[in-house]
Order: sequence, then structure tokens, then C-alpha cells
Amino acid sequence: MPQLIAGNWKMHCLAAEAVALAQGIAAGAQGIAAELLVCPTALHLAAVAEALHGSSVAVGGQNCHQAPQGAHTGDIAAPMLRDLGATWVILGHSERRLNHGETDELVREKTVAAVEAGLTPIVCVGETTDQRAGGAETEAVGWQLAGSLPKPFTGVLAYEPVWAIGTGKTATEEDVAIMHGFIREELVRQFGDLGQAIRILYGGSVKPANAGSLLAVANVGGALVGGSSLDPREFLAIARAAQAG
Ligand code: PGA
Repeated sequence: MPQLIAGNWKMHCLAAEAVALAQGIAAGAQGIAAELLVCPTALHLAAVAEALHGSSVAVGGQNCHQAPQGAHTGDIAAPMLRDLGATWVILGHSERRLNHGETDELVREKTVAAVEAGLTPIVCVGETTDQRAGGAETEAVGWQLAGSLPKPFTGVLAYEPVWAIGTGKTATEEDVAIMHGFIREELVRQFGDLGQAIRILYGGSVKPANAGSLLAVANVGGALVGGSSLDPREFLAIARAAQAG
């Protein structure tokens, strides 16, 4: 399976900037073996999907509600993302877990809702600075995996150590190898053989300079990229470093 390089644009870009960014990525995407995905704010999904029409770059949301519709002021349902052209959605990102109080149980419910709407979920897990300092990183990620994934799980995992997100600090290749190996074991324990095939992305300050070495680590199935996904040259350089599978 090819590696997946996903751009998480977070709360960046006005509409015209998002379209220009999408066009820049689409223009350089030809011949790249990795699967490519960009996740703009939901407000720009339709415009970005239109800009990417006919290219090999997919579009995703950054979050969804767990209900398919209802009285939830300000929220966005998974079928609405799908309706605007999204085929993926990021769920349980640490910025949502930490800033919006999202629990493992809620992330699991959202994951179910996403799959029901025809979206492929990217479920994020990752330990905080304190958990790693206390030597509890695998335990923390183990709990998140046990609580956040429905059975069966048909999506992608993303390991994003919270201390590496937007900080310029990257996990070492050894940290990544250990954690991705642990996540693989847990996925196989939870889902049997199907757990072998689930892609596990690494995220946290992935840049063109470190992408090649991180993407070559065992059990790394791609990257979830924040800051560097806002520049087409950087995002495409990361994508070129990816493995065809
Ligand atoms: P970063 O963000 O690449 O800016 O560290 C990654 C993410 O939050 O998905």
C-alpha cells in the first residue's frame, strides 16, 4: 500500500489562499507515488474540492460531530463533509482532545459516524510532554487506542506526540520505531490480521529535511503534516520522500 501524506491546514488560509494552495499542490502531484490528502477548514471544502477536481489529491475534514444531524449549533456532521467532496476526516487530533475536551469515547463515536457517512477516518493518538517525561508514553497511547477505535476499524491511525506538534521538535527515529511497533502490536491484538494492514502515520514537525528518514522507519505508513503542508513546495517535497509501498 502506498504511504499517505496528509496535510492538516488547521485554522489557516482565507478562501482564495486555500484554493491557491490546493492548486499549487495539484500542479506538482503528478508522478508522486504516495497517496495525497489535504484537510482545509470545512468552510473551504467545496472550493478546495473543486480546485482539486481531476487531480490525484483527495480532500478531508478536520473534525466532525458524532451525530448525522440535529440541534448542535456550530457543529458539522460527517454527511455534510461528504456532501462537499470530502472522503477523509481527521478525528481526535490532540488540539481537539486538549482544547475541546474530546474523550476517547467521543472520538470512537465520531469515528463510527464518519465511516457511516462514507468517510475514511484518521484517528490521532499521542502522549503529552508530562506522560513521556514520566515514562508513561506507551501506556497513554495504549489507553487511547483501546478507547478511541470502534470494532471493526476501517481507517488510518496517526501517532502524533503532543510535544512534537508545531514545536519543531521531532521524535527520533528510535522513538518512532518503538511507538509504531507498539501501536502495530496493539492493532493486531484488537483486530487480528486486519490490524497488520492499518496504516500508521507519524505526525509532529515533519519537514522536507526529516521526512525521508521518518518515512523509512518500520510501521510508518505516511505522515500527517501541519506547518509544512501550508507551502506547496514543502508538502510536495515531503510527498516525494514517501514510499510507493
Ligand atoms: P505540525 O503539525 O506538522 O505543524 O507539527 C502536525 C499536526 O498537528 O497534525
